[in-house]
Amino acid sequence: MRVVEAFAAAFGASPQTVWRAPGRVNLIGEHTDYNDGFVLPFAVPWGVTAALTPRDDDTIRLLSLQAPGEPVTIATHAESKGWTRYVVGVLDLLGDRVRGADIAIDGDVPQGAGLSSSAALEVAVASALNDVHSLGMTPMEIALLGQQAENDFVGMPCGIMDQAASALSEEGRALFLDCRSLASRTIPFDLAAHGLSLLIVDTQVHHEHAGGEYAKRRAECESAARKLGVAALRDVTDLAGALAELQGDERKRTEHVVTENHRVEALVGLLRAGAVTEIGALLNASHLSLRDLYEVSSPELDVAVEAALRGGARGARMTGGGFGGSAIALVPVERLDSVQRSVSDAYAERGFQAPRFLPAVPAPGAHRLS
Ligand code: GLA
Repeated sequence: MRVVEAFAAAFGASPQTVWRAPGRVNLIGEHTDYNDGFVLPFAVPWGVTAALTPRDDDTIRLLSLQAPGEPVTIATHAESKGWTRYVVGVLDLLGDRVRGADIAIDGDVPQGAGLSSSAALEVAVASALNDVHSLGMTPMEIALLGQQAENDFVGMPCGIMDQAASALSEEGRALFLDCRSLASRTIPFDLAAHGLSLLIVDTQVHHEHAGGEYAKRRAECESAARKLGVAALRDVTDLAGALAELQGDERKRTEHVVTENHRVEALVGLLRAGAVTEIGALLNASHLSLRDLYEVSSPELDVAVEAALRGGARGARMTGGGFGGSAIALVPVERLDSVQRSVSDAYAERGFQAPRFLPAVPAPGAHRLS
């Protein structure tokens, strides 16, 4: 394994443990996690591998195969920068349960595609530390630690979906997670058995303002919940009544969150019934809601969805936080060429950068490699 070789070359010995954690795509349930709602992501075949040996001092030495050069040495947590913050944040939150560590990282999550490379990094490192220090953390506790590192150390107010998908997913299945109780269940998601493929369309675009807009949406949802007198938008049962009490953006955001939660439950019902081919309409409805009510789509995502449907997809939607990143399309295998051609042609016509196509096959969650 090349990460083990790089570790040995840099630090002079083999690593004590090696963990792999995947990125994710979200099938449905977008911008619902921080509203205590439901999500249905699954792990993708790309992820982050972390080779780690604990140290008996407080120094952190970090090497990434994606950032060639000498290892970065971090003496105090506050001095970490860039990608190292996701790693140092995890160590920081573990406090005196851990000391320093030598860590080598190798990742193959397509960058900027919105497939949660940062969650994969947090979960890989947290899993390795949990292992070498015998901390006894459950996969969900590892996910929560990763989320907290991102919230409190990196400063991105994300929900729990990405880290939970990375820590808890199972091969060939989607992860149905209640983001309030944190109860989860995996559901068979066998696309090939139904002659289907889930195609990721990576727009290769990531809009700059994404972070600020994400925090703004979150604040709008919290404000709407306060006005409605509920703990979170998850608790709205009378949607028409709630909408009558709200105005403007808060009204639109609430309508999205409440209907999106229903769509997750409906999609889970279809999967349980073995009706995978029927989920397309819910994917389409989710996209329209994210585009028109939550306002987190982008021209590239909208064109990808529309062109995929014209090319023969059974359903398509943006996935992840939005403002760029990726869309997913549910495609009968015999239509894969036609869908890709349709999207590529539509991009060329508008002068967009060519998209990248990746097949999404549900992969296992975090696991030890050696
Ligand atoms: C990002 C966040 C997640 C979630 C999605 C939107 O990926 O990290 O917690 O909120 O956006 O569904």
